[in-house]
Amino acid sequence: MQNLTRLINKANNLWIKSQLPTRKLINFKKIDRFLILFVCTIISAISSYVLVTRQLQNFSLIISVIINFFEILICSGVLVYISKKEDPTINLRQIFFLIGLLFFVQILKTNFKAISPLSIIVPPTLVISQGMGTITSLSWLSIAFLIWPNSPNGMNEYLLLITFVSSCIVAILGGKIRSRAQLLQVSILVPLGALIGQFFFLGINNNDFYNFNIQELISKQGNILSDSFLLAILMLLAIIFMPILESIFGLVTKARLLELADQEKPLLRRLSIEAPGTFEHTLLLCGLAEEATRMIGGNVDLVKTGALYHDIGKLHAPNWFIENQNDNINPHDELDNPLESAKILQDHVDKGIQIAKKYRLPKPIVNFIPEHQGTLKMGYFLFKAKEKDKNVSENNFKYKGPIPQSKETAILMLADGCEAALRAMDINASDKEALKIISKIINSRIQDGQLLDSNFSRGEIYLIKISFLNVWKRMRHRRIQYPTEKNNDL
Ligand SMILES: [Fe+2]
Ligand SMILES: [Fe+2]
Repeated sequence: MQNLTRLINKANNLWIKSQLPTRKLINFKKIDRFLILFVCTIISAISSYVLVTRQLQNFSLIISVIINFFEILICSGVLVYISKKEDPTINLRQIFFLIGLLFFVQILKTNFKAISPLSIIVPPTLVISQGMGTITSLSWLSIAFLIWPNSPNGMNEYLLLITFVSSCIVAILGGKIRSRAQLLQVSILVPLGALIGQFFFLGINNNDFYNFNIQELISKQGNILSDSFLLAILMLLAIIFMPILESIFGLVTKARLLELADQEKPLLRRLSIEAPGTFEHTLLLCGLAEEATRMIGGNVDLVKTGALYHDIGKLHAPNWFIENQNDNINPHDELDNPLESAKILQDHVDKGIQIAKKYRLPKPIVNFIPEHQGTLKMGYFLFKAKEKDKNVSENNFKYKGPIPQSKETAILMLADGCEAALRAMDINASDKEALKIISKIINSRIQDGQLLDSNFSRGEIYLIKISFLNVWKRMRHRRIQYPTEKNNDL
């Protein structure tokens, strides 16, 4: 019976997940689209050029050149589409980085035929999988493998197969790896695996040992030792230069997100010392947002890091925010000017963006700062202002927005709304009561139009409510008093 219930629950969860709407893709300007098409055309021309160098008298050869040209062109277009689909917030610089790497690989393939395919394909795959995800890197490497020219030493098909398998492993692992240490392990284990693969499929020539010469690493294709050694060096170089690529192209790798989420980072240390109440609120929010994002299959590392930095703008005036006020002294009461108070609240967004830029936080993290407030009304100060003047404009008491543009920033907005209410709830409140409060807050955000751009399905909203409830149950459990000598009845 238990198994049947579990099966029904599993089927129910699968059905809820299947209700996910397709994500809205960003649109590039006409000129940008033209540039992308132009680069893709050059890549196709370079790839087909290999065949053009042969005799063109043969009609079937001309046809095959044309077919190859369009094959690469269409595949490049599909690559751009897939990368946009995997990450709807991908920017133009990142698209150019992706097709630029393809361009670079095609040049190496056609002009430096002695370099092993392992060294040409695997290191860029590692960078792409880390910065743009597994699906994009798998698509990229599939296109990079199209039309491989013959090398002067005669390309061994087994070597291409080993390269393909190694790069697929790197693409899959690269999308999951969460630290630089794991990356280093991959950069040692994959070349080692490639060496073993080559040893089994290609065998080893005694000359390989005698001819192993660092100066001939690039020109000596076919020497399995130098192939693997060169691959290891290039993968290590890719890891060393990753932080530079991250800042130039705005790539946000999992390793970078985890580094930023380190609570010893100077900005987070400042938040914990100068605005301890806000820091505490941030930590609780992380728990709520992480759980909900995990439930709907979103980017957990992104939401966790975004949550940590979402209220850094409060550092400009910590005491003006209720969670940092001691002894019930509220400067807003002394100010007694709702419009000025509203400006101070808006400042926690504007100043937050400034601080984030000063500390060079990546754009996807900065997006959490304005989007977690969206265009919400500052209800308390609007009420106060209306007490003084009934005709006051509501727009002066609304955050400037924009409303959340991704599911992750939208979850943070919902968690931000629920956190204080859940923290203030009675320890003896039932699950039903907690769910009622969560639903009330989330539904008010929906009715206010705050979730219009984040494309949540009904199933996802349901999952978010349940996950907030689960976190609240955890919080309640922590608050239950354990028996001490004084209250121990035993
Ligand atoms: Fe905020
Ligand atoms: Fe907040």
